[in-house]
Amino acid sequence: MANIFTSSIGKKLIMSISGLFLIIFLLLHLTINSFSIIDSFTGNFGAEDGLFAMGCEFMSLPIVTIMVPILAFGFIIHIIYAIILTLHNLDTRGGYFRYKVSSKAKADSWASKNMIVLGIIVLGFIVFHLTHFWDEMQLKEWMGEEATDPYLLLTVTFGRWWVLVLYIIWFGALWFHLTHGFWSAFQTIGWNNKIWLKRLKVIAYIFATLIFIGFTATAINGYIMA
Ligand code: HEM
Repeated sequence: MANIFTSSIGKKLIMSISGLFLIIFLLLHLTINSFSIIDSFTGNFGAEDGLFAMGCEFMSLPIVTIMVPILAFGFIIHIIYAIILTLHNLDTRGGYFRYKVSSKAKADSWASKNMIVLGIIVLGFIVFHLTHFWDEMQLKEWMGEEATDPYLLLTVTFGRWWVLVLYIIWFGALWFHLTHGFWSAFQTIGWNNKIWLKRLKVIAYIFATLIFIGFTATAINGYIMA
């Protein structure tokens, strides 16, 4: 019997709910990161009581820390179901470049056809990213050591121009991934009447662009402050 884990719509539902959960994480993450830009303007960049330092402090509270496995689980579910859905689509539609011969091609955006590739790029960079910040902060705290100063991590990471460039490429891939993922998630959970779908697509571009600008500004600010 088909159920939520195995039916086609069930799988899409799991993709969309885990995706929306990751979107909420991104918003929280962006908010705390952008504190470091405010700190630069208020002269508190590097200060112990700077807004960004307080944001990171908040992230290390037990109530937030218990969310880490849930976040990791959300990522894993999103990735596993992405692979399952992609394999299923390859099977039923006959190959990765199926859209080239279908009339639907024009209606689909480049991002929608390349979600799995974009997802793999985003994921690859997350691993790279965790080695810059997470292992120096949360992992160290878990090991009973003191976390490295977050401002120092910002300047050390983004102070190298090539790391800055790689991060901006990452944010670009995330932009494409979100322009499709955002509205698609709402469509899957049932927000699929014509008028709202049009609106959601516009909101998706605005949201993805805000995320892109916010993260890029944080990184460039880190480069400037180095
Ligand atoms: C300018 C851009 C970014 C900066 C400065 C930044 C900074 C940080 C910092 C400081 C941490 C460690 C938090 C802690 O251990 O308490 C962290 C963790 C993390 N970041 Fe980022 N981040 C950026 C972009 C992103 C993006 C775009 C994603 C996802 C697509 C992401 C995903 C994660 C994840 C999954 C963690 C581990 C979970 C956690 O500790 O909350 N980051 N980042």
